[in-house]
Amino acid sequence: RQRLIVDVDTGIDDSLALLYLLASPEAEIAGIASTAGNVPVEQVAANNLNWLELCGAPDVEVALGARVPLACPLRTTEDTHGPQGIGYAVLPASGRSLSERDATTLWVDLVRDAPGELTGLVTGPLTNLALAIREEPELPRLLRRLVVMGGAFNHPGNTTPTSEWNVSVDPEAAKEVFDAFSGLPEGRRPILCGLDVTETIEMTPDHVRRLAEAAGSTPGEIISPDDGPQVRSTASNAVIRHLSDAIRFYMDFHRTHDQGFLAHMHDPFAAAVALNPAIARTRPATVDVELHGRLTRGTTVADWVGHWNREPNVDVAVSTDPAAFFDDLVDRVGRFAKS
Ligand code: BDR
Ligand code: CA
Repeated sequence: RQRLIVDVDTGIDDSLALLYLLASPEAEIAGIASTAGNVPVEQVAANNLNWLELCGAPDVEVALGARVPLACPLRTTEDTHGPQGIGYAVLPASGRSLSERDATTLWVDLVRDAPGELTGLVTGPLTNLALAIREEPELPRLLRRLVVMGGAFNHPGNTTPTSEWNVSVDPEAAKEVFDAFSGLPEGRRPILCGLDVTETIEMTPDHVRRLAEAAGSTPGEIISPDDGPQVRSTASNAVIRHLSDAIRFYMDFHRTHDQGFLAHMHDPFAAAVALNPAIARTRPATVDVELHGRLTRGTTVADWVGHWNREPNVDVAVSTDPAAFFDDLVDRVGRFAKS
């Protein structure tokens, strides 16, 4: 089994990433760190607890993380993820409490307890991880591998013309993390899943239909672009029902931005890469983050050819097979929802 520490700003696609991991028999979530990003950190933590409860995994530890980025005010994006970060879904409230340790302590304790064993997966801003590395500078060497959803390389940004959301929200943290992972050998370098690859992974209503079918859920499972905000899924399976309501919001958002009635599965892809790096074709690069540009703050700059004379510090995901990814997602999450 592969043990993971997961750091999220849940988030519609973060939600699906969590479900994907919970549905994966080879994965064990050792702890979840909540970080401010899509919505404020208290809401992120509540979403994590509520999904875990709904999925029958209430004992997974959830820690509260940083409220604000390292060096700038927090921006949130309710437009993208809904007022609570989970689209149109309204999850039953879990009665469980958060961990007594904060997210920084969770990272540090878990890696120190099991050197070389844990895979780190970050699908939000990198604030918590940067703080953890300040406390334990050996953290990059104590992790088995790090996988991050973040960055835009040879691809337009989704937050500014050149920057991707997770890096843009806390550029100082992203830079500290990428710098700290310098010097690791091939096979141990962090994998960055940026928009170049995650925007090729388009979830459509047909995928949601397949998910519902795989879960044996009827009826009301079909996501329609004609539904108004007040329309809720009536799918018989609770996980599918709430997921459908969350995803429909995300599809509405993408449609409003002229991308069609679909949703990019950024974070679930990073989760799948964390379990099986072979699904991503990657290229080594030296990646740095622009902190000062008036127009380009938060941009990931990749040196592919050695201009800077620095060793590669990451492997950037450049392509994948989206159809194979969705077959796997539908199979795992559908089966899990059924059980
Ligand atoms: C990233 O931004 C967030 O809104 C998503 O959850 C994803 O992690 C994509 O840029
Ligand atoms: Ca996210």
